[in-house]
Amino acid sequence: MSFNEISPSEFFYRNRDLAGFTNPVRALYSSLKELVENSLDSCESAELLPEIFVNIQVDEDGPSEDPKFYRLTVQDNGYGVPSGSLADAFGRVFYGSKFRLKQSRGVFGMGATMTLLYAQATTGRPSFVASSTTGRRYHGLSMKIDIERNRPIILRRFEGRAYGWRGTLVSATVLGDYQKAEGKVTSYLEQTAMAAPYASITFRDPYGHQMKLERVIDRMPKPPRETLPHPSGVDIETLRKMIRLWKGDDLLKFMFKNFQRVGPKTAEHFLKYAGLDPSISPRALGDEELSRLASALRNYEGFLPPDASYLSTLGHELLEAGVRRLLSPEFCITVVRRPEAYEGHPFVIEAAVAYGGPKLKPGLTVFRFANRIPLLYDESSDVTWKILNSMDLRSYRVRPEDPVGVIVHVISTRIPYKTIGKEYIADRPEVEKGIRLALRDAFRALRNYLGRKERMVGVTRRANVYSKYMSIIAKLSTELAERDRVPRYDILIPKGVAQDVEETPRQ
Ligand SMILES: Nc1ncnc2c1ncn2[C@@H]1O[C@H](COP(=O)(O)OP(=O)(O)OP(=O)(O)O)[C@@H](O)[C@H]1O
Ligand SMILES: [Mg+2]
Repeated sequence: MSFNEISPSEFFYRNRDLAGFTNPVRALYSSLKELVENSLDSCESAELLPEIFVNIQVDEDGPSEDPKFYRLTVQDNGYGVPSGSLADAFGRVFYGSKFRLKQSRGVFGMGATMTLLYAQATTGRPSFVASSTTGRRYHGLSMKIDIERNRPIILRRFEGRAYGWRGTLVSATVLGDYQKAEGKVTSYLEQTAMAAPYASITFRDPYGHQMKLERVIDRMPKPPRETLPHPSGVDIETLRKMIRLWKGDDLLKFMFKNFQRVGPKTAEHFLKYAGLDPSISPRALGDEELSRLASALRNYEGFLPPDASYLSTLGHELLEAGVRRLLSPEFCITVVRRPEAYEGHPFVIEAAVAYGGPKLKPGLTVFRFANRIPLLYDESSDVTWKILNSMDLRSYRVRPEDPVGVIVHVISTRIPYKTIGKEYIADRPEVEKGIRLALRDAFRALRNYLGRKERMVGVTRRANVYSKYMSIIAKLSTELAERDRVPRYDILIPKGVAQDVEETPRQ
């Protein structure tokens, strides 16, 4: 028997299904998604209104039928990638700037690298990346990845004047099937624009059609901030790492300097509960004490709940702007729930229900988002559907054929993704409960609206009948009263009702 070790790049290339690079249809969609996510993350963390260009072009040297070679280019106006990190950011799996406890679309440090890996494995073409962090000069690379060593291979370097452009451009040629991926690609971009109404996205497809999603609002949500871990979500290995990095001395200080919502008082009470001496150095803890500390952290009930002020929610105004941008509904209600927590991670549920308008199809349409990423796969097994199926929508005056859009957005420093493709999220009872309560509130508001609307229809119908006979009654009464002029009876008819009023001179 022989034993080998493989590099992270090789592992993920072999298991590319995990990252959503299953076949040319899915892979084209995933490549675009990964690059767009990075661009939006970059603009948002620099608090710049995103201006993203996405272009897919057929590479004529590849096959003439789908699956073809497609050159995918995504350009943004974000903070850029410093020249020293450019090759590694795109040429190494598990290299990134988002491994901190901070809400962002990116999590794993491999989305862009997977795109480049997939490109070189399927078309053999090198990729091109360029960036400017200052707007004065840009630096670019033509590159490939050494899969066995998980290292970038730089083929050529470019440099030049940036003429004020700051941001990043990535261009990769991938084997894709645009014909079959088109629906998902456009839905992804539209829904991305729904969760980021402050972003402008221009997409040019391989047929030369341009889809321009202009921003509808100039305000961005407050950016997320980096946070310390909450004590109840920390396991032994994380503790070990924290202790290794800790430069200070005693355990008491370690507790209140390294965790959120732990002050000196709480730390003292907690250590008494855990039966640990506050004055010892955390480095002196043996395995048994460390595991005691970890389980005490999980079980102690005196900690305040995780702090959600580090999260960046869209809020009512942006959420509604996004929903109106995509769906132009007749009615829209938004709900932003108070922060909650699961396993030491804060989360917020935002939801909206939209009704009517020219774009919604009859029946329910569900839009799901996690940290502003649209989730387009695995819809039927999603928790939102499970909740909707268990709700009696008729009790909210919603008939099965009514055009209703349901929007659910989960925001957290740790989204429970099921795969690194970030397309499905695992069900957590706390999250499910939050979604259920948010939808219940939203549907109640819809019920009130539909009730008002129905009553208005009744009033209008009655008023229509009434107005029809009004002129006759008015004429007859005028004759009976032996008067010449018909009085002004139009003021008795509610606005919006067809009026059949005779021209009556003012008395
Ligand atoms: N458009 C961009 N602008 C600025 N930095 C970028 C851009 N694209 C990639 N990066 C940098 O490259 C790193 C690697 O990107 P990559 O997509 O591989 O991982 P990630 O976004 O951190 O996580 P995920 O695997 O979840 O996407 C990022 O963490 C970021 O620092
Ligand atoms: Mg990414």
